[in-house]
Amino acid sequence: MWAMAIVTLGVGMAALGYLLFRTMEYRIVEWRKKLPPGSMGWPYIGETLQLYSHSPNSFFAAKQRRYGEVFKTHILGCPCVMIASPEAARFVLVSQAHLFKPTFPASKQRMIGPQALFFHEGAYHAKLRKLVVSSFTPDGIRGMVSDIEDLALATLNSWEGQKVNTFMEMKKFSFKVGILKIFGSREKLDMDDLNESYLTLEKGYNSMPINVPGTKYNKSMKARRHLSKIIGKVISERRERGEGDNEGPNFLGTLLAHKDEKGGRLSHEQMVDNIIGLIFASRDTTASVLTWLIKFLKSSPALLDSVTAEQESVRQQKSSLDYKLTWEDMKSMRLTTRVIQETLRVATILSFTFREAVEDVEYKGYIIPKGWKVLPLFRNIHHSPEFFPEPHKFDPSRFEVPPKPNTFLPFGNGMHSCPGSELAKLEMLVFIHHLTTKFRWDFDESKTGVQYSPFQVPQEGLPIRVERK
Ligand code: HEM
Repeated sequence: MWAMAIVTLGVGMAALGYLLFRTMEYRIVEWRKKLPPGSMGWPYIGETLQLYSHSPNSFFAAKQRRYGEVFKTHILGCPCVMIASPEAARFVLVSQAHLFKPTFPASKQRMIGPQALFFHEGAYHAKLRKLVVSSFTPDGIRGMVSDIEDLALATLNSWEGQKVNTFMEMKKFSFKVGILKIFGSREKLDMDDLNESYLTLEKGYNSMPINVPGTKYNKSMKARRHLSKIIGKVISERRERGEGDNEGPNFLGTLLAHKDEKGGRLSHEQMVDNIIGLIFASRDTTASVLTWLIKFLKSSPALLDSVTAEQESVRQQKSSLDYKLTWEDMKSMRLTTRVIQETLRVATILSFTFREAVEDVEYKGYIIPKGWKVLPLFRNIHHSPEFFPEPHKFDPSRFEVPPKPNTFLPFGNGMHSCPGSELAKLEMLVFIHHLTTKFRWDFDESKTGVQYSPFQVPQEGLPIRVERK
């Protein structure tokens, strides 16, 4: 009797095991059949060495030439599907965005602050995003023109007769603009201390996450604690003054004033993490694009003349010598706006972004397995001759007609797209106005290299010599 039961159980288990095995095998065969084309390289390291032995851009471009617009690879320990078509980018970022979540290593989340909105999805992300977007709409930033202008002029005046590192200078400028928007113009902060702490924080961002004394990561985490203390002090002081009850024109005012349907406020950590995150997202991005803009303008003398003429005509409409720019002036800078668009396209400082499939997803007959990373390749789309003829030519006139949908994505698309795009464009317009009307600059044209800091910038951050006109 017992023997019978054991035999039956054994046979049952074996049958179940066999079924499971066949199902798994079937799924593996099905996956293999349906996975996008591409190669996965060596076990574990995949194709990481190939990625870094070329530049990431030529690695992705070569892959696309070989396998088409959707292909698989294995980099940095993760199986990935790369997508390089406008439709696929829309699928991942917009129409089926709920099937793909943002993905960042835990060490980076700890460094920026785990409550920062870009690490999240769902209700928490939606709540924070609404607050950020409302603060950075054109109406939320139009009052900043004059303050941004003062910062631009102070930066430019300090360049007179000097050789400066453009990228480092642009970092300081966009950092100050970010701080201005977040805290408002009345808050008196120790900018050198804040700037130093941020520089130390960013040095550890791409380092090995080993948190023992002496490592870059450890120094970064210390700088983060210091930043958190400075920002925390401002939050506490404003709370004591009861400023949270009147929505302020600055981002911190918006955070302090927020109450959900049940009257709940944001926690101290949620505010600190989102402030640190916002500065992180805004500084190097804007600074890298401004650096390219200064390079591209100088490299095309005829274009520089036309942009200068446009900016001179804005100046000529002003009656006094120490005039002030207005929000309306920005609307008349049409050519300069197209130059900024073309810079965003050619430089594509964010070559791609990351998502992770939350379930097996089918796209055009291919399977993107659950847990795989998905990378929309913005640079490949921006440099496709199909959408931008002669893609390597710097030609702002191509933006006289709007680009086709989903072919121009410098600020991403969908629910995680950039809420700071209007502020970034405003900073650039104001800066270019004063640069072209008052200064001339030069750099070593023979240095054509690119460095990753972590976004792409011209070699050595583009050292320039600046003279007043
Ligand atoms: C030229 C400068 C900038 C560029 C090229 C840029 C680019 C981008 C891109 C491509 C994304 C989407 C990333 C993704 O989908 O994974 C993004 C997101 C974001 N950007 Fe920007 N950005 C710039 C400036 C700024 C500024 C000035 C701010 C300040 C508010 C900012 C704040 C953010 C934030 C908070 C997110 C995350 C949004 C979310 O997850 O909902 N960025 N940016």
